[in-house]
Amino acid sequence: MRKYSVTLLPGDGIGPEILNEAIKVLDCVCNKFGFEIQYKTALIGGAAIDETGVPLPNETVDACKSSDAVLLAAVGGYKWDTLPGHLRPEAGLLGIRSALGLYANLRPARIFAPLKNTSPLKSEIIGESLDIMVVRELTGGIYFGERGRKEQDGVMSAYDTECYSVPEIQRIAKVAFEIAQKRGGRVCSVDKANVLESSRLWRETVIELAEDYPDIELSHLYVDNCAMQLVRNPKQFDVIVTSNIFGDILSDEASMISGSIGMLASASLSEGSFGLYEPVHGSAPDIAGLGKANPLAMILSAAMMLKYSLNEQEAADSIESAVNAALKVARTPDIAGDDVPIVSTSQMGDIVCKILQN
Ligand code: IPM
Ligand code: MG
Repeated sequence: MRKYSVTLLPGDGIGPEILNEAIKVLDCVCNKFGFEIQYKTALIGGAAIDETGVPLPNETVDACKSSDAVLLAAVGGYKWDTLPGHLRPEAGLLGIRSALGLYANLRPARIFAPLKNTSPLKSEIIGESLDIMVVRELTGGIYFGERGRKEQDGVMSAYDTECYSVPEIQRIAKVAFEIAQKRGGRVCSVDKANVLESSRLWRETVIELAEDYPDIELSHLYVDNCAMQLVRNPKQFDVIVTSNIFGDILSDEASMISGSIGMLASASLSEGSFGLYEPVHGSAPDIAGLGKANPLAMILSAAMMLKYSLNEQEAADSIESAVNAALKVARTPDIAGDDVPIVSTSQMGDIVCKILQN
């Protein structure tokens, strides 16, 4: 029997409840396709702060490093909002990305056919289908640059720095080019090269690397224009490659194309097949424990794990089609519409499982 080990990081807010549903679904595909996953659970975010005083205990990093892949749900909540930056739950998330070298963040934004009417975009803009892959650099840039505060003449100021090296840009662009080769063959690199020096180096480096990929059609957009184009004419995009902060912002925007941020999964990859998989949305503390959260982004993240880290492509595909089928008969409140009945978080997980078992 094929055996894998996965570390679970439930985190905070709706994290534990959506992760439960993903495990339910993974249990179904394990049975169906004849493989086994062994789970370890570890602390991250606010849950880790409450238990250990820090958002990312060393044991968590060790547990992740000794697994084939990591499933992370969400971190953060009001309770920890006033802590200093390095002790906030988000520091746990940034810390784990960095500690595991997860520099390539893949965020597929696509529309599931049953949700066409749920997207805030008009149907003529969406057309028959939409499928964009945002490739976000995840371990560099302003998120990890030098930052601080300084006081001069009684006036306080604060700064953060955006810095990218040529190898950092090359490795993320390479990921984007290789993904595009398996999709539509088009890469749009997004920067702010009309203003930022780091963006000018980004653009030069991407252009140079593109010489090795004559089969790829490369284009460039400034980030402000890209934000506009994503809602004006999203069909022009195949793969978008961009920096950490621009990718953060554009992937939230792109997620709405699919009707709800509750539908968007992500994979964060290092060299090799190891990866961390998490929904793009946050911990939604306002609805935690109410059974209202949409577990599908978490379930689709588990499917990405099967595809990219565990090489269980068939199981991954079956989850995606089960999610598509489930959307025809059940919706969580965030994707309500088309007179389809509203169900709870756990009912949605059950429905996906039932479809998988048929
Ligand atoms: C994301 C989130 C995180 C980020 C936050 C929670 C630190 O918004 O994964 O997109 O900015 O990377
Ligand atoms: Mg974000």
